[in-house]
Amino acid sequence: MTPGRPREAVLRLAGYRPGKAASQAEEEHGIDNAIKLASNENPHSPVPAVAQAMADALAGVNRYGDNNATDIRTALGEWIGIGADHLTVGCGSSGILQQLFFAYVDAGDDVVFPWPSFEIYPVFSTLFDANAITVPLVDHAFDMAAVADAVTESTKLIFLATPNNPTGTSTSMDAVAELLATVSDDTLVVIDEAYREFNDPTFGDPVDLLKAGHRNVVVTRTFSKAYGLAGLRTGYAIADPAVVAELDKVRLAFSVNNVAQAATLAAIEHRDAALEKVAELAAERDRCHAAVAAAGWELPPAHANFVWIPTGDRTDEIYLSMEKAGVVTRPFPGVGLRITVSTPEENDRWLGAFLDATA
Ligand SMILES: Cc1ncc(COP(=O)(O)O)c(C=O)c1O
Repeated sequence: MTPGRPREAVLRLAGYRPGKAASQAEEEHGIDNAIKLASNENPHSPVPAVAQAMADALAGVNRYGDNNATDIRTALGEWIGIGADHLTVGCGSSGILQQLFFAYVDAGDDVVFPWPSFEIYPVFSTLFDANAITVPLVDHAFDMAAVADAVTESTKLIFLATPNNPTGTSTSMDAVAELLATVSDDTLVVIDEAYREFNDPTFGDPVDLLKAGHRNVVVTRTFSKAYGLAGLRTGYAIADPAVVAELDKVRLAFSVNNVAQAATLAAIEHRDAALEKVAELAAERDRCHAAVAAAGWELPPAHANFVWIPTGDRTDEIYLSMEKAGVVTRPFPGVGLRITVSTPEENDRWLGAFLDATA
């Protein structure tokens, strides 16, 4: 018996499953030198100007920061070419996703998303007593006609991660525009672009849909992946000002803290340096993808900072073998393995461990 009376939804919930730490794998298998490629993190530390901004901000942590993160909204607005009133911030883009549930989802509402996709969508759906309507992928990618068919008057939110986690496949904004033509303004269509910077730009920019007058489009982005600030937790949303106003009401006060705000401003200013590293990682991703394909695996195109390998029934066995060799990946039992792309040395290591495990 747990003390107190947790909500039924909380009792039903297993909780979010973060990637296993390298230290845990070392302990479990009595090894050292393990690497973690399980959380789609950036192997590179933030650029020196960002580290300096954080160091400078530390002396000010006795004060609360700017609750509205006004400077970040202004800087993002100038960067993206949209009014600052279309922007809000959150504790990672996960924080923004949670705010979307707080602001829009009542018990019994429907939330629609293709599946498999980001594991937090069903977690929040359960927590908010919503019906998670999952739409199976076809060839590892979204079946947008089936997504449209799944939407009803009860649908409050649709989540489309592009590139998708865990499959790395992307959805074109033309396909999203077709979906929007069938969806009423009462349903928000959330385009989760956590991996945007790694994507092929020919898939299009969802902000253009917003600018074209689709007021129910919400775009979520993050500084966690391309900008190497996962541990700092800054995410943001681009949305209609009326949606921004609702998201702001439910945001935990000061959820983007002083240090994170300083770092984020510096990351915006020095974004070109981070984007050079993104280009290197994308090239490494393509090299790894080609190596796995050359070994005979059929895998979907990879548009994010990871490679998705449909290992099916062999997933657990391959995962364990790689982990024993000190390479921690993210298994989706019975479906596939998601492996984060890292430095050339670490990529050689996981490729070697994967080929050994599947030889
Ligand atoms: C598709 C997707 N969206 C959002 C996030 C959340 O990232 P963060 O909360 O660090 O911004 C992730 C993290 O892995 C993700 O894969």
